[in-house]
Amino acid sequence: QRPVRRLLSYPGTVAADLRREEQPAGSAETGSEDRTPKKRFCEVQSERREQAQRTVLIHCPSKISEKRFLKYLSQHGPINNHFFYESFGLYAVVEFHQKESVASLQSVTRTPSLGAEAAIPFRSRYFSLKLKNPSNQTSGQPSVQCSNQSSPASRKLFDLLCCAENVDDQLNTLTKELQLTEENTRLRHLTCSLIEDVAAAYFPDCAIRPFGSSVNSFGKLGCDLDMFLDLDDIGKFSAHKASGNFLMEFQVKNVPSERIASQKILSVIGECLDHFGPGCVGVQKILNARCPLVRFSHQASGFQCDLTTNNRIALRSSELLYIYGALDSRVRALVFTVRCWARAHSLTSSIPGAWITNFSLTIMVIFFLQRRSPPILPTLDYLKTLADAEDKCIIEGHNCTFVRDLNKIKPSGNTETLELLLKEFFEYFGNFAFNKNSINIRQGKEQNKPESSPLHIQNPFETSLNISKNVSQSQLQKFVDLARESAWILHQEDKGRPSPSGNQPWGLAALLLPSVANGVSLAKKKKPASERIKNLLESIKSGPENSTNTNGKR
Ligand code: CTP
Ligand code: MG
Repeated sequence: QRPVRRLLSYPGTVAADLRREEQPAGSAETGSEDRTPKKRFCEVQSERREQAQRTVLIHCPSKISEKRFLKYLSQHGPINNHFFYESFGLYAVVEFHQKESVASLQSVTRTPSLGAEAAIPFRSRYFSLKLKNPSNQTSGQPSVQCSNQSSPASRKLFDLLCCAENVDDQLNTLTKELQLTEENTRLRHLTCSLIEDVAAAYFPDCAIRPFGSSVNSFGKLGCDLDMFLDLDDIGKFSAHKASGNFLMEFQVKNVPSERIASQKILSVIGECLDHFGPGCVGVQKILNARCPLVRFSHQASGFQCDLTTNNRIALRSSELLYIYGALDSRVRALVFTVRCWARAHSLTSSIPGAWITNFSLTIMVIFFLQRRSPPILPTLDYLKTLADAEDKCIIEGHNCTFVRDLNKIKPSGNTETLELLLKEFFEYFGNFAFNKNSINIRQGKEQNKPESSPLHIQNPFETSLNISKNVSQSQLQKFVDLARESAWILHQEDKGRPSPSGNQPWGLAALLLPSVANGVSLAKKKKPASERIKNLLESIKSGPENSTNTNGKR
């Protein structure tokens, strides 16, 4: 029996975001759950937004003296923080101490003259730094140190896993390697802030807020950047303050529905990003989707961005996941591992289709942790009972109330190891009655399925929606088969494994391989080509039509 080992300190960004104040060195890993008061989601988000507004993005010459660069920019005011990164060129992210410094820098910046082409003179916070005299400045200069913005190569990750002490250590290593870094988090908030400047041309008091895995603490380096245009705060305060017998309203254009309003707004902002947005390329307007969106690449940051409007419920679900991720250090380790396992076996994909999504996998892990005895995570209904008057939150008629202050939630008394939890996760879902039951984190219990989709996971706030409606029967079956085989492999290892050695894949490393040592094939036994093509076609077709004989149990 291995000792119960839990990583009690949060490495990297989540640590920075969660901590209310810096702890003295060495006190983070104490052997008991970290009791430092933790920051609320909205505090973290507003600090990050304010920080991004004082930050600029600069495309730099490939060889540059860091010292001279900083000296040059300091003319506009003190610099709090900066870093360099590479993405088709060298870029710098520079955070000034004051917002005024950005205006000062903009005031001395010129619009380039491009010879035969013409420039659209949009004055953003994305600049290009040129050397006045390239030849004498670059010679012999050391290049700057760059921060890495992409996840480690699978080979490196694999080697790290093989060198780990035990399975728990493997899960924590994987999380540490894949999670968003402090720099990547800053770059995500900066990108939203730059897009906000474009949207503010139409709606001066708007906010572009990131949501999804960029902020819910489950983001992996390289994940997309989900953002939404928040117009809710516009004009709210002034209406309350006005005294007297009158109430003033703006004359506005009316459209038949919220959806049409979103489509019109996104259509114009999409055009604007396409025509004027520096660094915004491949702008696609996907306005007929259930949730209309504009998709584009932000070239300088390398992020694939999805912009929507009015997505307050999704922001609330990001906050809920953030809370779950912060309650117990095992949650993130398990979510990162299950997501990585699913990706390694092509259960998830970056292309939309009949596949399980990372969001669904995260909810499945949370549900599983609610089902442990004693539970590792509380139910959403319980978090609602802890809410006070100021936590009350109704969005579009949906009750999205839950406690915002993480410090009010008692830590779990459960001390199971990550190794055990991973094995049990695979066993639990390898034998789950997907044909009858729905996964419901609000109640923390299986519910009867209200409709016949192969996989039913209730949306925590819009409870009539199934977040995995797109998943086909064959994709669900693939998940179930792989879960069973992974549980089996972990059991086999328990029985006969010699002590972990660096040259044989073991534990988690063995689970990520398409085929494993001991002659066990983790992938399904090869099927005839006709059947494989049939499955492929089925997984391309999205929708619940092929759902009648769903049965997760054999
Ligand atoms: N969302 C939702 N219902 C869905 C899909 C998504 O409510 N059926 C919301 C969730 O809040 C989710 C966010 O939209 O976190 C972003 O969706 P997506 O990008 O698919 O998931 P992420 O959690 O961001 O994960 P990934 O790293 O794969 O992008
Ligand atoms: Mg996302």
